[in-house]
Amino acid sequence: MPCPALPEGFDFTDPDVYQTRVPLPEFAQLRQTAPVWWNAQPHGVAGFDDDGYWAVTRHEDVKEVSTKPDVFSANLNTSIIRFHASMTRDQIDAQKLIMLNMDPPEHTRVRQIVQRGFTPRAIRALEDALRHRAARIVAGVRQRDSGDFVTDIACELPLQAIAELIGIPQDDRARIFDWSNKMVAYDDPELAITEEVGANAAMELISYAMNLAAARKQCPAKDIVSQLVAAEDEGNLGSDEFGFFVLLLAVAGNETTRNAITHGMHAFLTHPEQWELYKSERPETAAEEIVRWATPVISFQRTATQDTELGGAKIKQGQRVGIFYSSANNDPDVFDRPEVFDITRDPNPHLGFGGGGPHFCLGKSLAVLEINLIFNAIADAMPGISLAGDPRRLRSAWLNGVKELPVRYG
Ligand code: HEM
Repeated sequence: MPCPALPEGFDFTDPDVYQTRVPLPEFAQLRQTAPVWWNAQPHGVAGFDDDGYWAVTRHEDVKEVSTKPDVFSANLNTSIIRFHASMTRDQIDAQKLIMLNMDPPEHTRVRQIVQRGFTPRAIRALEDALRHRAARIVAGVRQRDSGDFVTDIACELPLQAIAELIGIPQDDRARIFDWSNKMVAYDDPELAITEEVGANAAMELISYAMNLAAARKQCPAKDIVSQLVAAEDEGNLGSDEFGFFVLLLAVAGNETTRNAITHGMHAFLTHPEQWELYKSERPETAAEEIVRWATPVISFQRTATQDTELGGAKIKQGQRVGIFYSSANNDPDVFDRPEVFDITRDPNPHLGFGGGGPHFCLGKSLAVLEINLIFNAIADAMPGISLAGDPRRLRSAWLNGVKELPVRYG
């Protein structure tokens, strides 16, 4: 059904729509007029008979879709991307090896295994090392007048955190960082990284991780790899499963946290009273508001396993359903003045880490820790940091990303 409020041909999966901003006014229109809206997207890709997807925009509906995996399956690909004529069914099917694209009970088995690496104790054990890293990253740029906040500061901690968590040897980290960066640089013509370079980097990362798993199986160490792959049985990951898990971490835990940190810095510098408040009081609520404000993952996708109704819409079996966290996190039915960046916001039931279902972000505590550590380090060592230009956005309809943020270090 066309939505009279939106221009003809408007498509939330078109990266061009996000070139300068997340389309929040358009989401607001939909929440009021057609909260679950059929966005026609004729693509003509062989093997797919649907020609559009449902855009789910209200907080309560995003939660409902997220928490009903039997009705809204993750198995048929969770990335809500524009179909490219060049995409094959095989390419899309390969993604099923990643836990984000699994349904229970298969997903439950993998989640129970990998959760062992993300217990509060495991995350606490990383805190000192990451605090030192954060301080070193900030100290490394302090003497400079200005630079790009993304490459100088926001990039490194998320990669170090994952490397630290998994136990990647120091000597291998530069290679891992290079592959991870190539994988997430897609769609950015200025970086001239083609889809092929990104795909090759992903293959190299998977094969590196599989070799690491095989080596630890032979000769266990005191790290999470050894714990997860200890023995080849149902209660552990196979080497190939471990390879795809590391691939997921490199995407899910890297660019997301980097963008949360960058958007957070931009929000602080454009809301100086919030930066002053942060520096003097360091409220514990700040990290969650940064994630709500940034909403680094704009959306994910599910597929209806049966005919069902949601928000007044009649969804048919097999249709794609896009859950838009960016819209849910600005829903005025849930958030008082959602357009205000308020680091003391409490409660803050944002859906930036997901809608509370089985796929809820596994790395949430680690992400919150990283955000706290980096802003504490910046507030301690360069409280006078200021903006030196406009952010350059990542060209993506899936990640709310910033590629470059010019700042003056103070
Ligand atoms: C899943 C957001 C950081 C690992 C997710 C999901 C979202 C998300 C929206 C999907 C939830 C759903 O479908 O219900 C974020 C944001 C982050 C962040 C905004 C940073 C601010 C991290 C970090 C890690 C991580 C640091 C690990 C190092 C994962 C994994 C999943 C996931 C493994 C899949 C879980 C599953 O399928 O069961 N994240 N994430 N994330 N995240 Fe994060």
